[in-house]
Amino acid sequence: MSETSFKLVNETTHESVELPLIRGSIGPTAIDIGRLYKETGNFTYDPGFVSTASCRSAITYIDGEAGVLMYRGYPIEELAKQSSFLEVAYLLLHGNLPSVSELEIFETEVGRHTMIHDSMRHFLRGFHYDAHPMAMLSASIASLSAFYHDEINIEDPDARRLAAIRLIAKMPTIAAACYRYSIGWPMRFPHNNLDYCTRFLHMMYEVPSEPLELNPIATKALELLFILHADHEQNASTSTVRLVGSTGANPYASIAAGIAALWGPAHGGANEAVLKMLEEIGDPANVSKAVARAKDKESGFRLMGFGHRVYKNFDPRAKILRDMCHQVLGELGVDDPLLNVAMKLEEVALNDEYFIERKLYPNVDFYSGIIYKALNIPANMFTVMFSIARTAGWIAHWIEHHETPGARIGRPRQIYTGSVRRAYTPIELR
Ligand code: ACO
Repeated sequence: MSETSFKLVNETTHESVELPLIRGSIGPTAIDIGRLYKETGNFTYDPGFVSTASCRSAITYIDGEAGVLMYRGYPIEELAKQSSFLEVAYLLLHGNLPSVSELEIFETEVGRHTMIHDSMRHFLRGFHYDAHPMAMLSASIASLSAFYHDEINIEDPDARRLAAIRLIAKMPTIAAACYRYSIGWPMRFPHNNLDYCTRFLHMMYEVPSEPLELNPIATKALELLFILHADHEQNASTSTVRLVGSTGANPYASIAAGIAALWGPAHGGANEAVLKMLEEIGDPANVSKAVARAKDKESGFRLMGFGHRVYKNFDPRAKILRDMCHQVLGELGVDDPLLNVAMKLEEVALNDEYFIERKLYPNVDFYSGIIYKALNIPANMFTVMFSIARTAGWIAHWIEHHETPGARIGRPRQIYTGSVRRAYTPIELR
């Protein structure tokens, strides 16, 4: 067997097959099983994709054992310290950090596309006032394809880039409009003289009757949260975007599918679930009971904001956010009893054998909810906030899929466990 292949042997028939190995620039080697079925008649089985790479990608790298996250080769810690969100979005889309003039042009391009068609406001009015903003957001983003569908030629790189700019630009406008609709406030149009995060906060909170005074820590924290959430390689929502995109679906439909996937509490919905859980625990004195319940498999209860499929070490994003969390609460003078519950929970879980053995550390969502709450962002908007940031990553992956020569429709197979052929019984005889 050469160093470039992997030999699989059937122990019963002694038949063997040599499969090529694929190496990325860094990270584990992969066995290319693409011709396995053709040559042996066997499928591979990996529910949850624990050992399966679904694509080649040059966007984001994670080493879950070492707690490393890099966008385009840049460690997340450095980007978090030195970049703006739009700089990071440019990096994800284009592969390199922008020069001063490239960033200026990009910011202007994004600024030019922040408005939405007036009909979209009527579209939002169709929702009941208490609709979940994630439902409104995913429907609104899908509806963008109705406004731009005729223009989308997904084979054209310029059309793909324009769709990317539109999505990054319009997402905050639509997100803020969903929020304001839910509280009965009229939509606020974007001020393009403001930076991306400040503009969003204005669209959320500005009222016509008085100027909005923002504490700079609010914009700083939002910028950081957006950078940390901008991409995370082939997670459930990004894989959804790629899979939907692989059918040739338009970018708005693909991103709307990603938003739907993000909504689940096992994924992006966890930040909202963390807050609900902290409220339910209510007092640091109840933390030990909650931890005991999380360890009891019969209870069906898990500690939200703990554990990660890939990180078996501290989530590097959580480390950064932990510091920001204290800074935000300190500067805004928020004395939130939930933070005491959160800190106690962190302490108890990190010292508990069950959590240590399973390498269950606080993840990014554990702290993001507390920061968002301090910024007065309501809990049902937390996953919307995540969606705004992740749009940069989703669309970068959607573009990368379309730039991959020979990219094919994603079509997993299955192990069928249902009935084998049965004789049909006419209804009157059943
Ligand atoms: N609380 C208690 N036990 C847990 C938790 C938790 N939060 N997470 C995992 N476990 C236990 C499981 O019961 C299992 O125990 P066992 O080995 O005795 O059966 C073991 O740890 C491994 O868990 P899996 O579910 O197999 O891990 P998986 O990789 O499939 O799931 C997930 C990862 C979904 C993140 C999980 O840890 C979880 O449900 N966490 C809570 C939800 C959450 O915070 N999600 C946000 C993820 S980050 C993001 O999407 C941005």
